[in-house]
Amino acid sequence: MRLTGISDTYVLNNGVEIPCVAFGTYKAAEGDNVEILKRAIACGYRYFDTASFYGTETYLGQAVKASGIPREEFFITTKMWKDEMGYEAAKEAFAKSLERLGTDYLDLYLIHWPQPSPDCREWRTIDAETWRALEELYEAGKVRAIGLSNFLPHHVENLLKNCRVRPMVNQIEFHPGHTQETVVAYCKERGILVQAWSPIGRGRVLEDELIVELAAKYSVSPAQVCLRYALQRGVVPLPKSSSEERMRQNQDLFSFELTEEDMYRIGAMPPAGWSGEHPERERVRVKR
Ligand SMILES: NC(=O)c1ccc[n+]([C@@H]2O[C@H](COP(=O)([O-])OP(=O)(O)OC[C@H]3O[C@@H](n4cnc5c(N)ncnc54)[C@H](OP(=O)(O)O)[C@@H]3O)[C@@H](O)[C@H]2O)c1
Repeated sequence: MRLTGISDTYVLNNGVEIPCVAFGTYKAAEGDNVEILKRAIACGYRYFDTASFYGTETYLGQAVKASGIPREEFFITTKMWKDEMGYEAAKEAFAKSLERLGTDYLDLYLIHWPQPSPDCREWRTIDAETWRALEELYEAGKVRAIGLSNFLPHHVENLLKNCRVRPMVNQIEFHPGHTQETVVAYCKERGILVQAWSPIGRGRVLEDELIVELAAKYSVSPAQVCLRYALQRGVVPLPKSSSEERMRQNQDLFSFELTEEDMYRIGAMPPAGWSGEHPERERVRVKR
């Protein structure tokens, strides 16, 4: 599929259209204000990725309201945190997120992590119960699509065994140097759209020699190389930025195309920029 701009969409496995680029909101309300989010809307972003954990839902809700743009023109995703999992807790978490966002429906709701903690042995039951709550919210029309985040194939398998509604999305860490190919292939084969969190490795891969070389070759920035790589892999990038210039740059991804050879080179580059996060490990402090 040829994408021409950030409003172009993929179709999820339930028929809902989702824009091909989002705006990430982690740390996007610095100083407790809505300015960054208002700026992102003014720059043309309509798809926003937030989470109860980020503390940005309220600010996003305020920015959307202040824009005067109809709610239906936005695509809003939020996620429940690790301590909001379980059937009852998930429903309560959903209601609180709606309230903070000042909306009466969500476009996409995700389980943020598959395990409340790395040593949690009951994750299978907890995930299944949480998913049952999401299915009911979906069937009641309160959310247009439901999905997962940071789920590895065995976590997804556990849900697929008994679910009534198949997950539509899995949001994972994905950037040059850390592309989690096993997860990507598994999701693609099952019609689950993959989304890239930290698509520019939160800045950690911008000085990698291959990324710098390709940025010069295509006359774009290293960040644009990373974002274009996700797009060409059919993965939805969710870049966050605070500056208008970088917000605009991160949308300017459609006037160049990485060659097949360069796509392979990025896919096979040495590991780089991993956040140190993995659902089954305590956070690893990675040397930079
Ligand atoms: N599901 C999950 O577990 C999970 C985990 C982490 C993140 N996320 C989501 O994914 C979103 C993006 O991930 P992220 O915020 O961790 O990292 P990111 O988008 O990869 O990187 C953001 C950082 O890169 C800088 N930046 C942005 N555009 C740039 C450009 N064109 N050139 C140079 N630097 C640039 C930003 O600085 P400035 O702000 O100064 O521009 C910021 O420091 C989050 O906001 C969140 O919505 C999800």
